[in-house]
Amino acid sequence: LDNGLARRPPMGWMSWGYYMCGVDCQRNPQKCLDEKLILSVADKFYKEGYQEAGFEYIIIDDCWSEKKRDHNGKLVADRKRFPNGMKYIADYIHKLGLKFGMYTNIAATTCMGYPGSREHFKTDAKMFAEWEVDYLKVDGCFVEEDYLNIAYIKLGAHLNATGRPMVYSCSWPYYIEFIHHKQPDYQSVSKYCNVWRSYHDVVTSWSAIKAIVTHYLEAYEHLYKFHGPGHWNDPDMLIFGTGSLTDSQSRVHIAVYAMLAAPLLLSCDMNRISEYEKKLLLNLDLIAIAQDPLGVMAKPHALQRLVTMWVKPHLPKKGDKYNSVSFALVNLSDETATVSFTPGQYGLNSSDNYAVMDIFAQLFIRNMSLSDTFRVNVPSEDAAIYTMFPL
Ligand code: GLA
Ligand code: GLA
Repeated sequence: LDNGLARRPPMGWMSWGYYMCGVDCQRNPQKCLDEKLILSVADKFYKEGYQEAGFEYIIIDDCWSEKKRDHNGKLVADRKRFPNGMKYIADYIHKLGLKFGMYTNIAATTCMGYPGSREHFKTDAKMFAEWEVDYLKVDGCFVEEDYLNIAYIKLGAHLNATGRPMVYSCSWPYYIEFIHHKQPDYQSVSKYCNVWRSYHDVVTSWSAIKAIVTHYLEAYEHLYKFHGPGHWNDPDMLIFGTGSLTDSQSRVHIAVYAMLAAPLLLSCDMNRISEYEKKLLLNLDLIAIAQDPLGVMAKPHALQRLVTMWVKPHLPKKGDKYNSVSFALVNLSDETATVSFTPGQYGLNSSDNYAVMDIFAQLFIRNMSLSDTFRVNVPSEDAAIYTMFPL
């Protein structure tokens, strides 16, 4: 969607992946979706370096409202969990220089049975604008295929008519492909939405991450053309901070998301992010790959069984003729893989040498020419990323 927003893949936090429909705060305070939680995420972003690294949007997913609209037909935030309403939260977040996101569904109810926006597009768009929402995630549960194709466009027009800049996140292609078993019209989706889900919900397990990585390997040819500034495929939230991954698996997770130029949306108790995960999230060389202004989705190349190399060109630096290129090696097999490749075969074009940075170590490790071969061992369930900077 060409509305000047999401020129880089959005970064932030979204409640669903970890807190899900956390409405029972008495019995399950660990997973309580309420005002206190949202404000605490904002504080963490502000105080602990996440905001400087680019984490910006704080998005409340499903289960935020009362079970019924009010007598004027308006959505109302749950009175117990959000006692000061949503505008209060928006103001708090905005004061810190961060951005606020919310959720609705285009059907009569949300996926979890709360009031949805069907027949209320205009009222709800206005309401979200009044609450000063900056990002709206719009789900597509419970509706027929024809309606999906109409409703996302219609709701987008209502959002636009409010004049409030809101990143428009759609689940449209996901429901077309996986619920209605048709090929999504990505041309349309990318014209009307800033971000869209194109695969199943992530869950907090390594196998979910492997499935997402494998899906993007297979779907690359369909997806890459529609991916870029203002319009992004969304492989769903990061599962850092949930105790689900080893350090090496967390490298695979973040390496692939960065190379895809995917949105980086955490979903966790921010207090449970491990020191190592935090180091990865605040690794500015890695974030620079994920947020490169060209916004290219890396192309995967199969090297060996379950071993792939993803190649991502970057925008040349101002005044530079040649661009840098990142290579990620991803090993999903259960043995160490020895891989070697010649950068000159993958779109590098400078006749001069390159300086090679190991992105996880954040160190320059060597210089090399286009015809040199680069050899590296990648342990099982691990990833390495190297950026080649033209000299
Ligand atoms: C769907 C979406 C999830 C989340 C839930 C909320 O499953 O894909 O990301 O928004 O609905 O009910
Ligand atoms: C239009 C507007 C934006 C935003 C989006 C939402 O493109 O220009 O400010 O509201 O719609 O879809």
